[in-house]
Amino acid sequence: MRWNNLTGIVTPVEHQPERQFSPAVSNLFLDALSGQTGPRPPFWFMRQAGRYLPEYREIRAQADGFLDLCYTPERAARVTLQPIDRFRPDAAILFSDILVIPDAMGQEVGFSEGFGPVLTPVTSQADLERLDPARTLDHLAPVFETVRLVRAELPDDVALLGFAGAPWTVATYMIEGGSSRDFNQVKGWVISEPSAAAAMLGMLVEATTEYLVAQVEAGAQALQLFDTWASAVPASSFETLVISPTRQIVDGVKARTPDVPIIGFARGIGPRLADYVRETGIDAVGLDSAITFDQARELQDICPVQGNLDPAYLLAGGPPMEAAANQVLDQLADGPFVFNLAHGIHKDTPFAHVEALAEQIRDRGAGA
Ligand code: CP3
Repeated sequence: MRWNNLTGIVTPVEHQPERQFSPAVSNLFLDALSGQTGPRPPFWFMRQAGRYLPEYREIRAQADGFLDLCYTPERAARVTLQPIDRFRPDAAILFSDILVIPDAMGQEVGFSEGFGPVLTPVTSQADLERLDPARTLDHLAPVFETVRLVRAELPDDVALLGFAGAPWTVATYMIEGGSSRDFNQVKGWVISEPSAAAAMLGMLVEATTEYLVAQVEAGAQALQLFDTWASAVPASSFETLVISPTRQIVDGVKARTPDVPIIGFARGIGPRLADYVRETGIDAVGLDSAITFDQARELQDICPVQGNLDPAYLLAGGPPMEAAANQVLDQLADGPFVFNLAHGIHKDTPFAHVEALAEQIRDRGAGA
């Protein structure tokens, strides 16, 4: 492997700004992200579109693989809207994946049934040099079309949330070649090839910024950055691998679409969350289920929080779910707050549990 002497970063991508959507009707989710508390807390659920829904499985079966589903606007738009029809959350999240970015940059990305993502790992400087972030906007044009289709169909009081993976989390998949338990490959690579790692993070910052700005220009009204594997980063590398790339994306997006709120969801970083908020410039923070209510309320003094019912309660359903959700609401709904899960809905979750939870939260607006 020869990673040294790598300086090649990125060429800016040209693009045509389009009309930005401005909501005619007030939206509880966007209000909460701007720091307001409304008649009831807004809610949406991570992975609200997905395999636990029979109507998702039906469309998924018609597609020629998961990425084909992401890149077929009519289908991706229908899948985005399925949970809205069923549960009427306050936000729809664009149906796509964090791994469309490496796919757009030219890495081979596949999803195998029951096994998760499989990527041809980046293992050399030549592999890295073959990646081209300037391809992002062309390659992901179908995703922007999905955003337009969804926005045209969504009721005015349901916001459209765009998203991307944060560079570190996407880099873990690119280097490990898929999901990992210990992140030894990517961590070893960062240690022994720091300039290559910096170059790849730079490419990801550029591609992700372009991707998110284009989502907003197509109609996304808020954005979420998923840093699912921030938990694996040693404290000594936190600034380089998590804070700095995130801050660069936030700055880049806000320079071009200043009014769009950005939610940062960095999992498993516990006590470092306050620094993460302050140093990245995100507008709101997603909480995993290790965050205590005391910590969450302290964070609420800095910015709106989103979370954090453990998805295991949704899988279990019934009175334990109801009690746990009420506890989250009792503890956090007095401040700026978006009800959500601490992580995505598990694929074996009965959708009746999701219906019951949605109803429970909506009832908070009826004087509960
Ligand atoms: O409803 C939504 O939340 C929107 C769509 C969405 C998907 N993935 C669809 C998807 C979002 C926001 C994501 C984010 C994502 N993707 C993350 C960050 C959040 C998290 O879950 O930690 C990560 C790490 C990925 C990468 C990824 N995509 C993995 C590890 C897997 C396989 C694991 C799994 O759950 O199967 C995917 C596949 C994937 N992305 C599916 C869905 C609905 C299932 C694939 C299928 O239908 O065959």
